Amino acid sequence: MAEDRKLTVGVPTETFPGEARVALVPGVLQALSKAGIDTIVESGAGVAAGFPDSQFEDKGAKIGSRADVFDADIVVQVQTFGSNPNEGRSDLALMKKDQVVLGFTDPLGNAAGVKEMAGTGATILSVELMPRITRAQSMDVLSSQATVGGYKAVVLAAATMPKMFPMLTTAAGTIRPAKVFVIGAGVAGLQAIATAKRLGAVVQAYDVRAAVKEQVVSVGAKFVEMEIDSADAEDKGGYAKEMGEDFLRKQRELMTSVVENIDVVITTAAIPGKRSPVLITAEMVGKMQPGSVIVDLAAERGGNCELTKADETIVVNGVTIMGPTNLPATVPFHASSMYAKNLVTFLTHLIKDGAFKWDMEDQITNETLLARGGEVVLPRLREALGLGSSDPAAAPEGTADLKVAPTEGNSNGAAKPENATT
Ligand code: NAI
Repeated sequence: MAEDRKLTVGVPTETFPGEARVALVPGVLQALSKAGIDTIVESGAGVAAGFPDSQFEDKGAKIGSRADVFDADIVVQVQTFGSNPNEGRSDLALMKKDQVVLGFTDPLGNAAGVKEMAGTGATILSVELMPRITRAQSMDVLSSQATVGGYKAVVLAAATMPKMFPMLTTAAGTIRPAKVFVIGAGVAGLQAIATAKRLGAVVQAYDVRAAVKEQVVSVGAKFVEMEIDSADAEDKGGYAKEMGEDFLRKQRELMTSVVENIDVVITTAAIPGKRSPVLITAEMVGKMQPGSVIVDLAAERGGNCELTKADETIVVNGVTIMGPTNLPATVPFHASSMYAKNLVTFLTHLIKDGAFKWDMEDQITNETLLARGGEVVLPRLREALGLGSSDPAAAPEGTADLKVAPTEGNSNGAAKPENATT
């Protein structure tokens, strides 16, 4: 049996255009070290997020080249080749057999890219497929990053709008508070509501899932009631179902009178795995006040506003429509800190008794493991690629060869950080 040795985790510099986040931050290295994992960081990887090499070194990390980092047992990225197919392509040649690679991989958008990654022999995990179950909450990067996105959407709107947010009573007159309408009260929406409220706006919100009304009210917004039957809008997992065109038409009609008097609309309506529903038409934009702002967080998946252009800001009839697709990268310090905590919790979940275990009975492993042993293993991805059912010989089982040296003081689960998603 191979002699136990410490695992190493490598942190490359992100190469996706505009990506300023880094997958690990100095503050989580102690938890990794307690779990028996050494860290090597590409020189300069954390600079754009506010973490210079010296801070990683102070926490015990080595600094090296990109090749050194890809020599590690585990590579953690924000955007792997799957979600960064142009700039990330050169990383394929650096990836190696049985290395564990985790980060955003866009498995459902770029299945062919995941297949290419699988071809390197590396074990690939997708952070965006983390199930939204209580036990996985502290590993859920979509939630942590949506929290940042919801916050930044409001800050962006406030900085763009020609008005102020709070109500002010001054010698120069009284200023009325801004009116903000948030559509979709999931993770990003609730954070947008709370942020707008803190800035002094009067906030209204709507979600197709009536169950979120209480949460909307608890973060300070008025829930907009609509005379529309949404009793069937929620699936068993608590997510919104895709609604029919009749429902959406009715919803748009009812919302027209709301958006006419609103200064800022933040849209976050998403259906997992589907194109975002169009909730604001060009006609509705035409009825909004000049100077008002729409921030469409769903821009990447087509947008909730008919006029949204991904990664562009356009002005139509005096209404500014913004379609940013990567707001977390614009708040890289905290977005990276939260992402890093999520990753460390995920990694330490996968490592049992000093070794990686691929327990396919575990929902978290089962739903996030994309490829292993040169094969794509996730059934729905195999289906998308026309690969048929997985070869049982290649299917993950038991324990990988990699071992983690037992370490002192790790019995209290110190490697498990607090829930970073809220
Ligand atoms: P989530 O699933 O927690 O929330 C989406 C909400 O939309 C759900 O509460 C759902 O019920 C609601 N919804 C669905 N259809 C609706 C309809 N017709 N009317 C009203 N509400 C409806 O998702 P999360 O994490 O809050 O993310 C929201 C969106 O923001 C996603 O598309 C996500 O990709 C995006 N996002 C964008 C970022 C950016 O930089 N642009 C950053 C982070 C998230």
